[in-house]
Amino acid sequence: MKDSNFLKEHNARSMWHPMAHPADSLANPPTIVTSAQGVRITDIDGHEVVDAVGGLWNVNLGFSCAPIKAAIAAQLDRLPYYSTFRGTSNDAVIELSEELRRFFAPDGLTRAFYTSGGSDSVETALRLARQYHKIRGQGQRTKFLSLKKGYHGTHFGGASVNGNANFRTAYEPLLAGCHHIPAPYTYRNPFNESDPAKLAQLCLAALEDEIAFQGANTIAAFIMEPVLGAGGVIPPHETFMPGVREICTRHGILLIADEVITAFGRTGSWSGSRHWGVQPDFMCTAKAITNGYFPFGAVMIAEEVAQVFESDRTGAAAIGHGYTYSGHPVGAAAALACLAETERLNVTENAAARGTQLYDGLRALAAKYDIIGDVRGGHGLMCALELVSDRARKTPIDKKTIGTVQEVAYRAGAMVRVSGPNIIMSPPLILTAEDVQIILSSLDAGFAAL
Ligand SMILES: Cc1ncc(COP(=O)(O)O)c(C=O)c1O
Repeated sequence: MKDSNFLKEHNARSMWHPMAHPADSLANPPTIVTSAQGVRITDIDGHEVVDAVGGLWNVNLGFSCAPIKAAIAAQLDRLPYYSTFRGTSNDAVIELSEELRRFFAPDGLTRAFYTSGGSDSVETALRLARQYHKIRGQGQRTKFLSLKKGYHGTHFGGASVNGNANFRTAYEPLLAGCHHIPAPYTYRNPFNESDPAKLAQLCLAALEDEIAFQGANTIAAFIMEPVLGAGGVIPPHETFMPGVREICTRHGILLIADEVITAFGRTGSWSGSRHWGVQPDFMCTAKAITNGYFPFGAVMIAEEVAQVFESDRTGAAAIGHGYTYSGHPVGAAAALACLAETERLNVTENAAARGTQLYDGLRALAAKYDIIGDVRGGHGLMCALELVSDRARKTPIDKKTIGTVQEVAYRAGAMVRVSGPNIIMSPPLILTAEDVQIILSSLDAGFAAL
């Protein structure tokens, strides 16, 4: 490994970072993380902080999960790769599929299609949704509906159902036939409605309206995150997702739950769909499926949808989709160990308890600092602060000020993530009460410095 002077000098010189302006990365070189233990990361200068980002919503079990590391090493020794394309398989992925089938049985999901990450999982679900309708003789059902503020990765399909201009405009034109409805975002919405239950009903009415406008028989699927994540942690009212499920079922529209963040315990429930008592037709997973230690994902498929594919005798159900790394044995071994550890530690319980502690602490900060316009969370370990320069007018904060809060918080002991006007927190689910206090006191220091 090169020495730290070399690394600092060359930081961002020969690589472009995702979700960053290349010139900005050159002018403001990224923090170089060189090691991690438990829920803490250490940078190139030896500064150690609690990682309130949890890698990128994925390191649910922290950075020292020995069983996953051992499983990866053992699998690399035994069988480092073999494809699952037609005609071959591997032992690890067969075992994983049975485990996932057991784990997701309460969600009604019984088959897995493997991917290399979240965007791949979204792309897979969108494609299989269209194919499902074609198999059933309803090939005109090609459109997709989704929520504004939703995040579904960056493939063309995912970007097309994405609800944020930052991920769309530079890459337009996107996929035709993708339409968006307002998110159940109480702080800002076109209805000027701050009551979550009323807003949920208004958004559901907007969904009904859009379906009527497009024609139900032209729509393949509705895709949503059970709790919107990257869009700024927006938990809907408890009636929202069940309402979406009912509307979709009534109109023959498939429901895709994008659980790239919420599957495997983050909301305090084992899946976001289960959190709201909903069974989706497809569920996109990735991230925490391997604790972030190996790029891997799975689209889980409902039994009823699986039956349609498996009973086809016309050839229409032949799947012309897949990735070289679909069902990668090392990813499968990592996922098997990760799932066992996730269940052994019963992380939902800690996610719920620490999530409440964090949310309460953030609300206390909002009582102290006017710059905090909105505090969102209350459903496990995903929280956000939306900053404003004028609380009454809800004027979005400028980049420099929010950057200062982040920088001072980092110096004080916690890595938090900034996305637009939001400070987003998605720490590992094994966080302790003391770690939560460190995140809160670091943020307190960040706001006090303004
Ligand atoms: C809900 C959701 N879907 C899809 C993705 C895309 O996943 P990936 O970055 O692994 O492609 C993300 C990433 O954060 C996500 O949060």
